[in-house]
Amino acid sequence: MVSRLERNPGHSTHQQGPELKDTIKITRQDDMMLALLSLLALRLALATGDLLQHGAPPTAAITSPVVMTECGLVKGSLEQGVNVFKGIPYAEPPVNQNRWKAPVPLSNSTGTCWSGTYDATTFGTQCTQPINYTDLTHPVGNEDCLYLNVWSPSLDGSDSLPVMVWIHGGDLVDGNGSMVAYSPNPEVARDLQFVFVSMNYRLGPLGFMTLDLLSKASETRTSGNYGFMDQIQVLKWVQSNIRNFGGDPNKVTLFGQSSGGTSIYALLASPLAAGLFHRAWPMSASAILNKTSLEASRDNQVFLTTTGCADIQCLLGLSVEKIFTDSPWTVYPSWAMADQGNIPVKGQFYGALAVVDGYVIPQSPMDAWKQGKAVDVPTVFSNVAEETDKYHLNITTWSEYRSEVTRQLASFGSEISNKLLQLYPESQYSSPKLQLSDLTSDLRVICPMDVVADVADRYFTSFTYRYIATQWPSQPVQGRGRYAFHGWDAIAFFGGIKDIVPNPSQSDLDFTANLRREISAFVKTGEPASRTWKPTKVSTALLGSTTTVTTFYHRDQCSFLLRNGFFSYAWIN
Ligand SMILES: *[C@@H]1O[C@H](CO)[C@@H](O)[C@H](O)[C@H]1NC(C)=O
Ligand SMILES: *[C@@H]1O[C@H](CO)[C@@H](O)[C@H](O)[C@H]1NC(C)=O
Ligand SMILES: *[C@@H]1O[C@H](CO)[C@@H](O)[C@H](O)[C@H]1NC(C)=O
Ligand SMILES: *[C@@H]1O[C@H](CO)[C@@H](O)[C@H](O)[C@H]1NC(C)=O
Ligand SMILES: *[C@@H]1O[C@H](CO)[C@@H](O)[C@H](O)[C@H]1NC(C)=O
Repeated sequence: MVSRLERNPGHSTHQQGPELKDTIKITRQDDMMLALLSLLALRLALATGDLLQHGAPPTAAITSPVVMTECGLVKGSLEQGVNVFKGIPYAEPPVNQNRWKAPVPLSNSTGTCWSGTYDATTFGTQCTQPINYTDLTHPVGNEDCLYLNVWSPSLDGSDSLPVMVWIHGGDLVDGNGSMVAYSPNPEVARDLQFVFVSMNYRLGPLGFMTLDLLSKASETRTSGNYGFMDQIQVLKWVQSNIRNFGGDPNKVTLFGQSSGGTSIYALLASPLAAGLFHRAWPMSASAILNKTSLEASRDNQVFLTTTGCADIQCLLGLSVEKIFTDSPWTVYPSWAMADQGNIPVKGQFYGALAVVDGYVIPQSPMDAWKQGKAVDVPTVFSNVAEETDKYHLNITTWSEYRSEVTRQLASFGSEISNKLLQLYPESQYSSPKLQLSDLTSDLRVICPMDVVADVADRYFTSFTYRYIATQWPSQPVQGRGRYAFHGWDAIAFFGGIKDIVPNPSQSDLDFTANLRREISAFVKTGEPASRTWKPTKVSTALLGSTTTVTTFYHRDQCSFLLRNGFFSYAWIN
């Protein structure tokens, strides 16, 4: 039995029979109307012989859709006409002896499936994460967190829909698969007629701890990247189960933002993920993923010192609180993302959580691609124009901008800072904040991602595409500003602008519509909708209310930065 069931014993029933009876006990009038209308539609469809194309089985018409999975029945709910299944367990809880191990799939033969019908109407607890970035050692969430969610506009398997699997961001340290404005939802599933899946995956020290001690105790003699293995387990679950939710297991698009994009970058080089997805859309990923297990394990030794652990049983017995207190959050090179969006200091790097472990990720993705070992699928590499805006809210004048750039880049020499001041001229910006944001966004994120996109373009046989989202929200967004900020494209795609901008304007709505138009074509065909938007080699799309195509975004700035070795200062995680 999985623990969710134990926590909600009242919600599980034992057969499909009682489940279906539930649907007859409809009391609210609108639900009754809905049921009647749906029945009517079904009858009409039957009468006109239309069922195979448009009909839905009775489960889609009732308030509690029930679907069979490999582990048994799950009962979801109907939201805005979409079948929603929340918190389906996809592996054994990664606790006790399962901590810091590959996820263990649920299986009837090991008695880890459920009996009766699983109540999939509440999201699973998010994975353990710091309460916030000023209090990294205070954990919230739960170690028992391997749950996924499904949104399906139609459960009719005869008309299999494309599937989009979402990987949330949060530095591989925080977040979950059901955040408002930043997750799949009934509206986007209905609008695009795709099946959406999202998941919680292990994060931070519980998801990415690399240590010799753990490697020695593992079958593969590797450690780390547990969070990536969780994501891969979800992709396997999709292969085995999504047909019953109306999805086509042969048309799976993986999309994610920030560290969700970085996860996709990793999976594009993982033999364990090969064949499990067919298109990829990493948004605002990190370009560097090359830390070796040896380096990571050495850097993480401090964790053994602080915990006093010398063997695996000690590690498995640690409380989550102790793990969070003793993790190398701020010990250089730290895991925390402190100021990676700022101008770098020469020689100062951050500790990566994702590592080249030799198993999940056998080599750094770009090296793997160069050797023909890519998970070679059509891919859209994307960024927003002001990736790093949130770090610069305190710059208010041009002279602050100039002194900040000069002071921060001093370690690289004045030739570099002078040239960069020239390459981002004040005349082109409406505010110094924006100017600094463009400089640091290019330096830390966009230009390094050009390198990644270029290598993919050269070594994948599949087409790859590149866009920069340049449109701004119609109004300043609280805590951000009025820029194309980190996460803006994902939020727009999900239809989440209304959740962060009080009254979205037509241009906000058009941005969502244009992004959905381009991406839904890509999901279906492997190519974006705009015919002028060609593969990376020859074009970069600037996405706003409409699509404008250019040959290269910020060519002079990127070529200067990359020529001068700034690739090494790309965002980590
Ligand atoms: C799991 O095993 C039980 C008992 O053998 C069986 O009744 C049930 O149908 C199985 N469930 C699935 C999903 O195969
Ligand atoms: C997911 O994250 C959001 C934002 O931090 C939070 O409000 C919500 O409670 C989380 N969901 C779960 C199921 O923990
Ligand atoms: C972080 O969480 C702590 C509670 O542990 C709270 O006191 C503090 O105000 C929070 N800080 C921020 C910036 O939200
Ligand atoms: C802005 O904040 C950063 C980080 O806290 C600090 O280093 C910098 O001096 C501040 N700049 C100004 C102009 O206040
Ligand atoms: C990882 O890549 C960075 C940037 O190219 C480089 O500076 C660093 O030496 C590389 N590390 C390893 C272990 O290859």
